[in-house]
Amino acid sequence: MVRSSAWNLGALLGLLLALPVWMSSTPPDLCKALNTVKSSLSLANRLRYMKQNFPINYTIRVHYEEVFKLKNISRLRRKVEGLVDGDLQETWLRVNLGVLKKIKVVLLPGKHPSSNYTSNLHKLFLNVEQIYPSRVSTEEDPPERIQRIWDVLASSTIKEKERATPKSLLDSCYQTMHCLFSDCFPRKEGEPDYCLRAHWRGEKRTKLQKA
Ligand SMILES: *[C@@H]1O[C@H](CO)[C@@H](O)[C@H](O)[C@H]1NC(C)=O
Ligand SMILES: *[C@@H]1O[C@H](CO)[C@@H](O)[C@H](O)[C@H]1NC(C)=O
Ligand SMILES: *[C@@H]1O[C@H](CO)[C@@H](O)[C@H](O)[C@H]1NC(C)=O
Repeated sequence: MVRSSAWNLGALLGLLLALPVWMSSTPPDLCKALNTVKSSLSLANRLRYMKQNFPINYTIRVHYEEVFKLKNISRLRRKVEGLVDGDLQETWLRVNLGVLKKIKVVLLPGKHPSSNYTSNLHKLFLNVEQIYPSRVSTEEDPPERIQRIWDVLASSTIKEKERATPKSLLDSCYQTMHCLFSDCFPRKEGEPDYCLRAHWRGEKRTKLQKA
């Protein structure tokens, strides 16, 4: 990789032009797609399709890396040098595309009462993937720690050693989405920070969609 010598004027200009779009705001069409995902992931839907329609305490096998929660985000932000929001957003996308595929597999297509919901949600994610902007510089690799996560997610040979309930996986998906694409989900006045776990703690108890 030729990083230093590649800093010619063109690249620099391109970067300067691309930066504001990339860094400070999520493109409107992406926000729209994410808001569709958000509606589909309402608490009522998560409870019905990812919990009540499954046997009690039903879990699926996942990679450790597919357990991607708010605390992972704060840890990665703290520890990984050179990390940009795009790395975490892309991780979120890869994790949850994989999770949804796995949930789809355990549901007999068309037979299980959650299968249409899951297929539809998967489609919404594929739509997000399609419009997700590519990295500012496609030649630039993500930080090594992130690349390792992506490698595990893409691997078909590494064994899945973790178990998680479908609802817990989608709860994390929903929560981290608010934190990673915060400009698509403007906070109303007085609302707490979506990146704080404390904000979501009451969700189970109230069973009300506040966000
Ligand atoms: C489900 O898991 C909870 C918490 O781990 C446990 O308290 C409960 O007994 C389990 N229920 C069944 C039916 O296995
Ligand atoms: C999130 O944290 C858990 C527990 O520490 C870990 O097993 C998992 O690999 C982490 N996920 C990612 C994507 O870093
Ligand atoms: C899923 O959708 C198909 C076609 O739209 C429908 O025929 C089927 O009954 C639905 N299955 C469930 C479980 O709702």
